[in-house]
Amino acid sequence: MDRRHFYVASLKQLAIEMGLIPTREDFLRLKGTNQTEMENIFGTFTQLIQASGLRPNRKASYKSELDKHSQKREAYDLLLNKFKTDIEPLNHKYGHIDKQAFKILVCSDLHADYLDPFAWEMFLTAARFYQPEVVVLAGDVLDCYAISSYSKDPRRINSFATEIDFVKKNILESIRNALPKAQIDFILGNHEVRLWKMLVANAPALAFLPSLSYAELLSLDAYKINLVASQSILNPKPGSANYKVYGDPKKGFCITHGTKCSGQHAEAELKTWNLNGCSGHVHHYQVASKRDMSGGTKTWTSIGCMCRIETGEDYCDFPKWQQGFGIAHVYKDQSQFEYVAIQDALCHIGRRYYFR
Ligand SMILES: [Fe+2]
Ligand SMILES: [Fe+2]
Repeated sequence: MDRRHFYVASLKQLAIEMGLIPTREDFLRLKGTNQTEMENIFGTFTQLIQASGLRPNRKASYKSELDKHSQKREAYDLLLNKFKTDIEPLNHKYGHIDKQAFKILVCSDLHADYLDPFAWEMFLTAARFYQPEVVVLAGDVLDCYAISSYSKDPRRINSFATEIDFVKKNILESIRNALPKAQIDFILGNHEVRLWKMLVANAPALAFLPSLSYAELLSLDAYKINLVASQSILNPKPGSANYKVYGDPKKGFCITHGTKCSGQHAEAELKTWNLNGCSGHVHHYQVASKRDMSGGTKTWTSIGCMCRIETGEDYCDFPKWQQGFGIAHVYKDQSQFEYVAIQDALCHIGRRYYFR
C-alpha cells in the first residue's frame, strides 16, 4: 500500500472507530502517523479529509453548483429562443390596430364551459352594436381544471379535450362570426398558463411541440386570433406580464389579465401600470382613478367575469363575484372606458334593456 492510500485508509478506519471525523491531533496520536509526511502528501489535514471522501471538497461542490446553474441557464436560454421564434410573433400575427380612433370591446374570465350564456349573449350583442375594431379576450378564457395541480372535485372534471372543443365552437368561432373583420387578441391569463406550467414541469421537451401549442389547440390561425403572451411565462411565477397597450405606446390603453387580488385591486393595478387600462382576474368590478402633478388623469377598471357566479361557490361560501365587460374608446393618446354591468338579471346596451 503506498503512503497516500495508507493515510486515507487509516483516517477512514479511525473515523469508523470513533463515529466521527477525528481531529488532526487525535489522528496523529492514535494512528502514530507523521505530520510532516502527511503534509508533504496532502498539504493539510483538511485536504486529507477531503481526499478520503469524508467531507465534500468545497471547490468541487461549488463547481458542481455552477455546472447545475449553467445547465439550468442553457435550458432557460433554449426555452427563451423557442419562445421568441414560436410564441412572440403570434402577438401581432393578425395585425395591430394603427388607427387614431377606435374602440376595443373587452371581457375576461370566461372559464370555458363555466361561461354564463346570458353574459356571453350580451357580449355578442355589444359586439354587434358597437362594431369595435378590436376585441380582447383578457385571459382565463380556458379553465384547465383537468390539468391543474389543485385537488380535483369530481363534479368539475371534464376532459381537457371537451373544454378545448367548447372554447373553439362557443367562444372563438362565435365572436369571429359576429365580427369578421375585427382584430381579436387573446391575452393569456393564469388559467391558460396552467397548460404551459404542466408541460414544462412534466415534459419540457414537449412544451414547444406545435400540436400542443395554444395556437394549434385553439385553432387560432383558423379564427385569425392573435395570442398575447410575454416571456414571463418562462418564469417560475408566470403570467404576470401578459399585456398589450393600444394606441400611443406610452400613454395608450393597457389591457392585461391582472394579478392583484388585494381589496384595492384596481388601485394596485393602476400603480403597477400607471396607464389608463383594465384587467380581470378578480371577477369583481372596481375603479381607481388618479390625477397627478403632470396634469394627467389615469383610470383603471377591474372588470367582472363572464363565467357563472355560482361557479364561485366552489371557492367560498358567498362569492362576491360580479359579471360585466367593457368598451374602451381610444383617440390618439386619450382613452375612456365604458363599463357594461350585468346586474343580476339586467343588462343595458345602447338604448335597449336586456333581461335574463
Ligand atoms: Fe378567472
Ligand atoms: Fe385569473
